Amino acid sequence: RTTALIAASVGKDGYRHYMEKELHEHPVVIGQTLQRLVDPATRRVVLPDLPFDLAAVPRGVVTACGSAFYAGMIGRYWLEQYARLPIDIDVASEMRYRDPPLTPGGLGLLISQSGETADTLAALRGMRQQGQHIVSVLNVEQSTMARESDAVLGTVAGPEISVASTKAFTAQLSVLACLTVALGRARGHLDARAEERMVTALLDLPSRATEVFEQRDAIRHMAGIVAEARDVLYLGRGSSFPVALEGALKLKEITYIHAEAYAAGEMKHGPISLIDRTVPVVATVPSGRLFDKTLSNLQEAKARGGRLLVFTDTQGAPRLRDIAEVVVEIPTVDEFTAPILQTIPVQILAYEVALLKGTDVDQPRNLAKSVTVE
Ligand code: AGP
Repeated sequence: RTTALIAASVGKDGYRHYMEKELHEHPVVIGQTLQRLVDPATRRVVLPDLPFDLAAVPRGVVTACGSAFYAGMIGRYWLEQYARLPIDIDVASEMRYRDPPLTPGGLGLLISQSGETADTLAALRGMRQQGQHIVSVLNVEQSTMARESDAVLGTVAGPEISVASTKAFTAQLSVLACLTVALGRARGHLDARAEERMVTALLDLPSRATEVFEQRDAIRHMAGIVAEARDVLYLGRGSSFPVALEGALKLKEITYIHAEAYAAGEMKHGPISLIDRTVPVVATVPSGRLFDKTLSNLQEAKARGGRLLVFTDTQGAPRLRDIAEVVVEIPTVDEFTAPILQTIPVQILAYEVALLKGTDVDQPRNLAKSVTVE
């Protein structure tokens, strides 16, 4: 019976690919993950009991691989901004050999869907040797990393079958957002009002995420342009920069089109020489304090013949329509949760391009779901 249940839960449910099914699970997965970490009665974040005092950690070190690393990058923006926790971050394959000197009693924060990634596991062991409190954000809670962590913060994403990670990513962000609120409170940087605002924005996400799928036509229009390209440039600023990195990775993984993501402010330091009509510029530009700066980067790209394909929100869309060839407009949400919502259409874009390219969406060439070797 259990086998049948598991088989049923990993069927495609009528979708063409596991990736399409898992993209549509974003709203449910975000909701399920938050349900575990937010007390519905008090609407306050309640983490599982940790075997150390969260308020006492002096700094943190974050590491992961691939998409999980980009989730960690977004977590770093949050932890520094809302909890004022100094963070060192690096991909695990670098972290494990860099062997940075770490402050004993620090927070060692690792993110992994599988809990079996060799480089991330090796980095975990290195952090433990330096007296870090090991907290792992994992989707597979009976995994090697789970067994070697002091605490596990579980993503309630269910089995993720497609090699390209989608729903696990927004679940990881949901966990990191709750950890940020708990740390911000514990370190005295978030008062009750700020916490209420951030938790309300988080609890609002599942319904906002459902609305993103209404933008399918605009995303398909964008995909038609990207599918013709040989090279694509992704841009983002602040916590949208890792969203750009995730979008570029998804495109590479499942469509085999070369894509590079840059911090938008980096354009004038070299990448802008790439811009011409053959290189689409995909930008993630939510409204907020970095909007104007990113808009001017896009105007620079436009002036050089760049074709702008932008993801923004209802508040930002009017100011982008006259320079962008395609504008995907998703709901305006709090700056805190914007990167979680912005991730969804960027992943859908990669999926739509893969459909046009006819690649093997769920099992892209050369890739494995979990890289258990170095
Ligand atoms: C994501 O789409 C990729 N399949 C890959 O980058 C993945 O995120 C990375 O290998 C890390 O895997 P993990 O989360 O299981 O540790």
